[in-house]
Amino acid sequence: MTNQRTIIISNRLPIKITGKREAMQYQSSEGGLATGLNSVYKQKDNIWIGWPGAIVEDAYKQQVRDKLKEQNLLPVFLTQEEINGFYEGFSNETLWPLFHYFPSYATFNPTNWNLYRTVNEKYAQVILEHIRPDDTIWIHDYQLMLLPGLIRKAMPNISIGYFQHIPFPSYEIFRSLPWREELLNGLLGADLIGFHTYDDVRHFISSVNRITNISGFTNELNVNNRSITVDSFPIGIDYNRYYQLAQEANTYRGELKIKQVTGDSKVLISIDRLDYSKGITHRLEAYRFLLERHPELHGKIVLLHVVVPSRDNVPKYKEMKEEMGKLISDINGKYSTLGWQPIHHFYRSFPPNILSAMYKTADVALVTPMRDGMNLVSKEYVASKTDETGVLILSEMAGAARELSDAVIVNPNNIWDVAEKIYMALNMPVEEQKRRMYAMQNTVKRFDVFNWVNNFMEKLQEVKEQQKALLTHTISKETQEKIHTTYANATRRLILLDYDGTLVPFHKQVNEAIPDAELIDILTQLTKDPANDVVIISGRDYKTLETWLGELPLDFIAEHGAWYKYNAENEWNTAPDLNTNGLPSIMQMMNMYTKRTPGAFIEEKSYSIAWHYRRVEKDLGNLRAQELISDVKHIVGDMGLQVLQGDKVVEVKSMYINKGKAVKRWLDKDNYDFIIAIGDDHTDEDTFKAMPAEAYTIKVGKNISAATYFLNSYKEVRKLLHDLCLDDNTLKQGNKQFALL
Ligand code: UDP
Ligand code: G6P
Repeated sequence: MTNQRTIIISNRLPIKITGKREAMQYQSSEGGLATGLNSVYKQKDNIWIGWPGAIVEDAYKQQVRDKLKEQNLLPVFLTQEEINGFYEGFSNETLWPLFHYFPSYATFNPTNWNLYRTVNEKYAQVILEHIRPDDTIWIHDYQLMLLPGLIRKAMPNISIGYFQHIPFPSYEIFRSLPWREELLNGLLGADLIGFHTYDDVRHFISSVNRITNISGFTNELNVNNRSITVDSFPIGIDYNRYYQLAQEANTYRGELKIKQVTGDSKVLISIDRLDYSKGITHRLEAYRFLLERHPELHGKIVLLHVVVPSRDNVPKYKEMKEEMGKLISDINGKYSTLGWQPIHHFYRSFPPNILSAMYKTADVALVTPMRDGMNLVSKEYVASKTDETGVLILSEMAGAARELSDAVIVNPNNIWDVAEKIYMALNMPVEEQKRRMYAMQNTVKRFDVFNWVNNFMEKLQEVKEQQKALLTHTISKETQEKIHTTYANATRRLILLDYDGTLVPFHKQVNEAIPDAELIDILTQLTKDPANDVVIISGRDYKTLETWLGELPLDFIAEHGAWYKYNAENEWNTAPDLNTNGLPSIMQMMNMYTKRTPGAFIEEKSYSIAWHYRRVEKDLGNLRAQELISDVKHIVGDMGLQVLQGDKVVEVKSMYINKGKAVKRWLDKDNYDFIIAIGDDHTDEDTFKAMPAEAYTIKVGKNISAATYFLNSYKEVRKLLHDLCLDDNTLKQGNKQFALL
């Protein structure tokens, strides 16, 4: 990894430009993303690509590029129209309010969406001009949700991580977006998708399951045969930097200045960007309520209220600013005396030493967002309290609340409780303050930003390695040729084919999977050669197989091995040890589940019962299937039965039969010099496991299997079989139809 670069991409660079032309100045950007990654990007020859926060005229662009290059930064310049539509519009008037659970604030404007797309493409273009194939791309946040997909398209094998710094909302909110599918597909271009909390992960996976045709129960998703991972990585801060900052002389000087203003009063602070998600007005209401209810605090407490200007061209932010200003002036107007003012309000940003001095001086920090991905202010407060005193009041709606359980946790909507908790905090004994602060400091120190970066990067590398390991299972040209040569040279061949999902597509109605003319033709060709034993090995009942395929000279294994038939014989045979005594009580249970689950149905076979949920609403089906399995699991063992989960089906059958045992009959009866087994679901794993080492085993659709190779779909299976039965001469000439990939 040492020479590999990490390319960080975010909408905003950690440096922003203020002023124009000759008067341009470079300042630090505010916000958790910029401050969070600040300590990381300067390492090695990494690059950070993003917007410098202002419109730069053409004549000055090169100057800006040169200046930023000194700090490993590469600018993407945006026009006024792009800033309006992409940044203020789609990012901050659509995605931001929706993802922070303010759906009524969200606007749905197709022009903004188009600009969002255009700007994501613009970023992709800049990135593609600068990346090398072995770089690791790390894309940040909701402004660039389409970018992973765009880069993936241009560079299919590159390593891409995406991290979202804001919450991912529940499906019920996310589904309201007209462009939901495009956004998900954009994100799914990444190899690793990270969020701050497990709830975000859960919400994302649930949206993927319901909106796209990709399904996955765990946090691994199979996207076009690329296995990607979704996980939670709570961001930390550079703890040592904040701890040291708190001890610098400049910070100490800042503390003295603050003390001149606050005197002997107890100090509360709140520090936020101007944002409705931060709960600023609710907090002010809580403070007003505290002053109303506890007059004894008048003259004895001061709130240092810092609000950093942000997105002030977005209408909702403007409105909020007005509302906040009015509240502050009401409170100060009502309670101030000649010698005391309850709120000291600052609408500006402060340099690090002053922020540190504020954190250090504050007896109580109020961090009460209505919703926040993480919230770094809470962690910075903890790291700055070098004497271990101070109380953090923290909203349960902030990602940070999952880690900082020793904070005083509040529901920001409950302003009366917030007021009481402030009162409690102001009176908290020092020992308790220290106990809580010490515990929180340990957490913030241990899970710092470097730990966050390492965890994310290590996981990304692991996902890439896993993908590579699975790639070895795709059928290469050489393997195809080997299969064909072995086939051509063989004198006895065994061809084991599962039916549903392998030879025909999956149908909503089980009885619709009738073989079509193309399949009949392929099977006819295959069985024409007397050297071939072609066995259809299915979970279906024998009567259906007989009706659909009985005319062909095939061998059959039905109901997972309960029934079998050789082509040379007319009779169907049953396997020994079939035990069906317990099936009636299983049937009763399955009936109960069918009644409770719209769309579910039961398929009764002679020696097993299958409960199908392919027509049930996805999540409900999965839930009911798990319930059913856990209900029957306890009783089947004693009945000599076994429960199997297939693709959208739960099946209970005799413990002593499975496809693996059934195929043994064929393996034992002949000396085959070519064996191939193809299947798509769980139950085919038994077949794969029963195969001798020299057999070709192929899993259809998924790439995690006991099989050695995999194909994408039944269509590729048909092509493989079709090519196998072409006459030897054509094969030996290396015909073109050969290529599967
Ligand atoms: N911040 C800053 N200057 C200020 C006030 C705050 O740079 O004057 C920083 C603060 O130190 C913190 C970040 O802005 O690192 C805010 O991050 P947070 O995660 O709390 O909220 P976000 O703004 O990302 O929603
Ligand atoms: C939050 C977002 C960041 C954003 C920052 C500041 O932290 O997660 O993506 O950069 O706020 O917002 P701004 O709109 O000024 O970039």
